[in-house]
Amino acid sequence: MKQLLQQLTQIPAPSGYEHKIRDAIREMVADYADEITTDALGNLIVRKGKAGQGKRIMLAAHMDEIGVMVSHIDENGFARFAPIGGVYPPYCLGGRVRFLNGHVGVINSENTSDPNKIPSLDQLFIDLGGTKHGIKVGDVAAFDRSFADLGDRVVSKALDDRVGVAVLISALRQLESTRHEIYFVFSVQEEVGVRGATTAAFQIAPDVGIAVDVTGWGDTPKVPPMVDVALGKGPAIKIRDSGMLADPRVVDWMISTAEKAKIPYQREVLLRGSTDARAIQLSRAGVPAGTISIPCRYVHSPSEMIDVRDAENAAALITALLSAEITWA
Ligand code: CO
Ligand code: ZN
Repeated sequence: MKQLLQQLTQIPAPSGYEHKIRDAIREMVADYADEITTDALGNLIVRKGKAGQGKRIMLAAHMDEIGVMVSHIDENGFARFAPIGGVYPPYCLGGRVRFLNGHVGVINSENTSDPNKIPSLDQLFIDLGGTKHGIKVGDVAAFDRSFADLGDRVVSKALDDRVGVAVLISALRQLESTRHEIYFVFSVQEEVGVRGATTAAFQIAPDVGIAVDVTGWGDTPKVPPMVDVALGKGPAIKIRDSGMLADPRVVDWMISTAEKAKIPYQREVLLRGSTDARAIQLSRAGVPAGTISIPCRYVHSPSEMIDVRDAENAAALITALLSAEITWA
């Protein structure tokens, strides 16, 4: 799992520019898939199990990550940028971004009268290093930060949602046979509004949908006691976030499967944010949907942290869900 996470997180793939990560994932799943396709938006759709047998299940983890898009560059190589997804100034300052051609830029800000004041996004710039270095308006970059192994925990940029990608790859590899028709979707453009999952869910028309994504945390100093999720206590089964009320039948299915298989889990009520499951739930005439979340600290910073055991248990839970008969759907 750690090695998979290290490989996956280091590939830059801001929303809309997922080609490098898609190629890497396709190679990782090739030996385990019954069919692999890419749709017009760029979603990588991996089928396991015979078409027409059992339930049609869609699993989704997004391949894209937050980043920046250049909106203006001056002669001295200072670029202004638009955010791609949820980009926050305190996480940008002093950080680095890497363009798709490999060029690195440094983010800093206009001089402000008060050095302790956090600048706004439009006061920030990317210093490209003296000249434009071939970077043009419209070029995109991802945040750049190396992977660190802290034992049970790992730290990297883009664990949102490469940990979900790693969980799906690992579940696919563990799944020997299935009575269902399963679609593992590695989706695009989640960070800009669950766009890839929207078209993938329409095409697949699943009986059940499950997203795998990161969620918030409540176990660092002075976090308001609103979030009951902690690192290392198991994958979180989502009950609610700001975009979705998970289908209670899906929640019950996940909880009873986890209890039967003795997999630790947590109950998640997330106050802000949502996942691809929202798009699946609202697709066509509606689909029963839920989310399995990996607790993640400092989401959307270049140093996100997860507990690897939570990812391993999430993969085990998904394998258990996909291995049994589904009676309720
Ligand atoms: Co995100
Ligand atoms: Zn995410």
